[in-house]
Amino acid sequence: MAHLRGDEKRRYVAEMFARISPRYDLMNSLMTGGMHHRWKRATARLTAGSAVGPALDVATGTGDLAFALAACPNVTEVVGVDLLDEMLSIANRRRTSGRSNGKTIQFVRGDALGLPFPNASFIGATAGFSLRNMPDVPSAIREMARVVAPGGRITTLELTPMAPGVASGLGRFYFHRLVPLMGQLIAGDRTAYTYLPDSVDYFLTADGLADVFRKAGLVDVGYRRLGFGGVALHFGDRPA
Ligand SMILES: C[S@@+](CC[C@H](N)C(=O)[O-])C[C@H]1O[C@@H](n2cnc3c(N)ncnc32)[C@H](O)[C@@H]1O
Repeated sequence: MAHLRGDEKRRYVAEMFARISPRYDLMNSLMTGGMHHRWKRATARLTAGSAVGPALDVATGTGDLAFALAACPNVTEVVGVDLLDEMLSIANRRRTSGRSNGKTIQFVRGDALGLPFPNASFIGATAGFSLRNMPDVPSAIREMARVVAPGGRITTLELTPMAPGVASGLGRFYFHRLVPLMGQLIAGDRTAYTYLPDSVDYFLTADGLADVFRKAGLVDVGYRRLGFGGVALHFGDRPA
């Protein structure tokens, strides 16, 4: 199913995340040994930089990156946007149980490919583990660039194909064999956790995604590999 395009992909992804939403957070923590929290904190800090103002988390899901942005002292408020009410209602529950760091966090329904915000609304924008699921990655990055103010930063945290080698062999075994089994046992959904490794195989390389950032007009583009090389944190700035 990772080969799907356009509206077909959007529908497939929406149905899949609606199904797995109740076990989504638990699965993330189990699959990454809890490391995803550290990666998200690093992503939020890198995005926030030193400008003062509101920040955006695109495809926020259950809100981890929105909460990490709210923990940055210079971020005044946070908006998390996602396609799915099922994910947003979990994010809202988490918000009201004390994760907002005293900041205003709004979770709103919207499409990353047509963000419901005026130009230059935010000091920075993040998107975590979501680009692979989008039918048009360049449009998603262009939209993030549009809503960030000049000088602001865009970051994405995403699973990425690994360079061939021992780590990649182990990574493939883990993602293609063990993760679907965990998905079946814990989330009751082997299909969703088979789509996950397949979608990485179909996704851009880290260099390819950096090119998408540059073509969206971003500057000082780069990326850092995390999680034994299987995760990439990309960054780029809107020219000042
Ligand atoms: C794997 S989850 C990532 C959630 C969160 N960012 C995280 O890092 O845990 C992917 C999320 O992307 C959302 N999503 C997929 N396509 C989207 C789109 N076009 N616009 C907005 N959200 C989208 C899904 O609803 C889902 O909540």
